[in-house]
Amino acid sequence: MLLRVAAKFLIAATLLGVGLTRVECLNFNFTEFNDSAGDQLILNDSNSRLFYDAIQVTPDSSGAPEAMIQKSGRTLYEKPFRLWNRKGFNSSFNTTFVLNIKYQTHPGGEGLAFILTGSSNVNINASGQWLGVVEPQKNDSSQAQTVAIEFDTRKSYEEDLDDNHVGLDVNTVYSRVQVPLTNLGVNLSSNSDIRVHVRYDGELKNLTVFLEMADKKIPVFSEISDLPAYLPKKVYVGFSGSTSNYTQLNCVKSWAFNSTDKEDDNPFWIWIVVPVLGVALLVGIAFFVYRKRKIDREKLEDACPSIEEVIKVSSTAPRKFKFEELRKATGNFSPKNKLGKGGFGTVYKGVMGNKLVAVKKVSKKSTQGKTEFIAEVTTIGKLHQRNLVKLIGWCYERRQFLLVYEYLPNGSLDKFIFCDEKSSMEESTMSWETRLSVVTGAAQALDYLHNGCEETILHRDIKSSNIMLDSEFNAKLGDFGLARTIKLSDQTHHSTKELSGTPGYMAPESILTGRFTIETDVYAFGILILEVACGRKPGSQNQQDNYSCNIVNWVWDLHREGRTLDAADSRLEGDFATGDMECVLILGLACCHPNPHKRPSMKIVLQVLKGEAEAPPVPNERPAFMWPPLPPSFKELDISLGQLSPFSELGGR
Ligand SMILES: *[C@@H]1O[C@H](CO)[C@@H](O)[C@H](O)[C@H]1NC(C)=O
Ligand SMILES: *[C@@H]1O[C@H](CO)[C@@H](O)[C@H](O)[C@H]1NC(C)=O
Ligand SMILES: *[C@@H]1O[C@H](CO)[C@@H](O)[C@H](O)[C@H]1NC(C)=O
Ligand SMILES: *[C@@H]1O[C@H](CO)[C@@H](O)[C@H](O)[C@H]1NC(C)=O
Ligand SMILES: *[C@@H]1O[C@H](CO)[C@@H](O)[C@H](O)[C@H]1NC(C)=O
Ligand SMILES: *[C@@H]1O[C@H](CO)[C@@H](O)[C@H](O)[C@H]1NC(C)=O
Ligand SMILES: *[C@@H]1O[C@H](CO)[C@@H](O)[C@H](O)[C@H]1NC(C)=O
Ligand SMILES: *[C@@H]1O[C@H](CO)[C@@H](O)[C@H](O)[C@H]1NC(C)=O
Ligand SMILES: *[C@@H]1O[C@H](CO)[C@@H](O)[C@H](O)[C@H]1NC(C)=O
Ligand SMILES: *[C@@H]1O[C@H](CO)[C@@H](O)[C@H](O)[C@H]1NC(C)=O
Ligand SMILES: *[C@@H]1O[C@H](CO)[C@@H](O)[C@H](O)[C@H]1NC(C)=O
Repeated sequence: MLLRVAAKFLIAATLLGVGLTRVECLNFNFTEFNDSAGDQLILNDSNSRLFYDAIQVTPDSSGAPEAMIQKSGRTLYEKPFRLWNRKGFNSSFNTTFVLNIKYQTHPGGEGLAFILTGSSNVNINASGQWLGVVEPQKNDSSQAQTVAIEFDTRKSYEEDLDDNHVGLDVNTVYSRVQVPLTNLGVNLSSNSDIRVHVRYDGELKNLTVFLEMADKKIPVFSEISDLPAYLPKKVYVGFSGSTSNYTQLNCVKSWAFNSTDKEDDNPFWIWIVVPVLGVALLVGIAFFVYRKRKIDREKLEDACPSIEEVIKVSSTAPRKFKFEELRKATGNFSPKNKLGKGGFGTVYKGVMGNKLVAVKKVSKKSTQGKTEFIAEVTTIGKLHQRNLVKLIGWCYERRQFLLVYEYLPNGSLDKFIFCDEKSSMEESTMSWETRLSVVTGAAQALDYLHNGCEETILHRDIKSSNIMLDSEFNAKLGDFGLARTIKLSDQTHHSTKELSGTPGYMAPESILTGRFTIETDVYAFGILILEVACGRKPGSQNQQDNYSCNIVNWVWDLHREGRTLDAADSRLEGDFATGDMECVLILGLACCHPNPHKRPSMKIVLQVLKGEAEAPPVPNERPAFMWPPLPPSFKELDISLGQLSPFSELGGR
């Protein structure tokens, strides 16, 4: 006991000492914002996200137009940096970023800003003129702790200069400096890349903003601004933006940041005290670790008894593995054994005895790791169906979650059906029979989740990269990371705060409401069938912009023109029964009906795929998306009750 207290004291004392000698510096360079960049950013505000290798500071166009208006978003780098300290140190920084702004309405609105802020909270209500910089109730208050360089694309109040200017904002959006850009020949919202450099000299307090044009840095303004007077010692850096009834895409495509790491002038005693404390600490830690190891051996593995309890409920429960076993099996999680990166972790190939397994290492960064882990283990542990990826075991040690699945040698379906991926050039095109059997298998699995278990289970992330293939090309539905069980009796919808799911597969209503239902799973399944039949990616869901990129619109247009079969994957070279192909395409459209009430249940989908029923009829013209959806008419309700439509059982509104 005494030892622990002593160790804690030593740690504290040494950290203090080290804190006096070292100043944190922040240094990073994102040349693009691919998925891996997300680990280093705080963007758990559902309004900001990474898409198309850029930060979409405000909602992008993959949702309904209504989801874009009156929103604000923020994205911050995960770590703060030391702007100043009590001993008179003032940090300098340089940052360079590339903006791209595109109108969605004419005119567009409102703009975005580079911000330095005291808080890591990205969920703030600062839409419209407030640019995500300050909430209206904190306007001009020192509580806001935010300094911004705004790129304003709309004149939204009287003092606002125009719809194309740069400004310096301190705790408000009523700028101290406003510089118009039109006479520099720059149009912020022209959908072109604009490279900005910001330089701040901590000693001279000189804040200068440059725009790069023809490889030259043109200063836009230079201002003496004592940032430490407005900001706390540690500040987060990032971007904010907002929309009003006027909307636009506010993208940041790359971003580099560099701040000084300046040695402080320390009093001489530090040089004696710190090493002494350091040595003492090492001894302390060694002892502490030795003691703790002993305790841990008994305790740590049971650190989360609730998980074990949860799992032991089922007698056919997956096995518990030791971390050491899994480390060995995967060659110390060697990159060579990496199979892929899933929703919330990385999957490695492993060898156990003479058996191959897939080990998923749940990312420590995923904040909901524990809940997701419990959800996944409980959900999968209870499920047994031929077309579901089998969970063999799990491990929770060293605060690390791992899941062990059966290994599926043929990988995921997507690499067999898309032509634009390098790997598939060598793969021969998957035959129509195989495609049909794969989607039927997947339908079997989803029907089992929806209708075959005690509780209805939503998958929430149906997509071709989640359909795995065994050596005989049998489909196995994987990745239940997002699955949550819903009870039939007490809840109609399961709602989530943050939007999960994969763009392109999300039903229009789930983008709008953030909810997942049986019908949104069916929608995603419809996209899957269309992908497999057409051999093309689902594309954007933007209604106006990339209209023809959206697979549903594209197939529906062909259907209207009576050319449904033209949607079939050309690589099949017509080698299919036209009746089957047409039936599958129509079924895909029926599943993607904009009105969730009109989508078939998985039971019916399965019957159609097995040839036991006709594809449900779909109108020639794609119906418009309406929210809330029209309820089914009485006549339809009769039919659907007869067909056990899950929606009516669940009592949709
Ligand atoms: C993501 O981008 C970084 C640079 O910002 C690059 O180093 C990395 O290889 C990229 N990862 C993928 C999977 O493209
Ligand atoms: C956002 O994420 C950070 C760390 O990733 C976490 O500390 C914070 O609580 C999250 N905020 C919300 C509102 O989820
Ligand atoms: C740092 O800035 C503060 C004011 O913000 C000033 O009082 C101090 O003298 C500065 N330190 C140096 C070393 O310039
Ligand atoms: C910022 O850039 C200027 C000019 O290139 C340079 O003098 C200064 O040292 C840089 N500061 C940092 C923190 O990198
Ligand atoms: C933002 O505003 C909405 C509606 O005005 C409100 O429901 C929500 O709680 C607010 N969020 C925060 C973080 O204040
Ligand atoms: C916000 O604060 C600025 C600066 O004090 C002031 O000019 C402006 O009128 C305020 N706006 C609102 C809407 O409160
Ligand atoms: C900027 O470009 C957009 C799109 O081309 C255009 O609609 C807008 O009028 C331009 N704004 C200015 C200030 O030139
Ligand atoms: C601030 O620095 C820039 C260049 O880095 C210089 O052009 C400008 O004159 C300086 N401003 C002041 C007020 O010192
Ligand atoms: C935005 O549009 C809605 C509906 O058209 C309207 O009620 C509201 O007043 C508008 N808000 C602003 C700030 O113009
Ligand atoms: C960031 O990295 C890219 C590619 O390596 C490089 O061209 C660029 O100069 C870097 N930016 C900064 C500010 O260091
Ligand atoms: C960041 O600035 C420091 C000095 O202030 C310099 O040594 C370092 O090279 C810079 N790094 C980048 C990536 O520019």
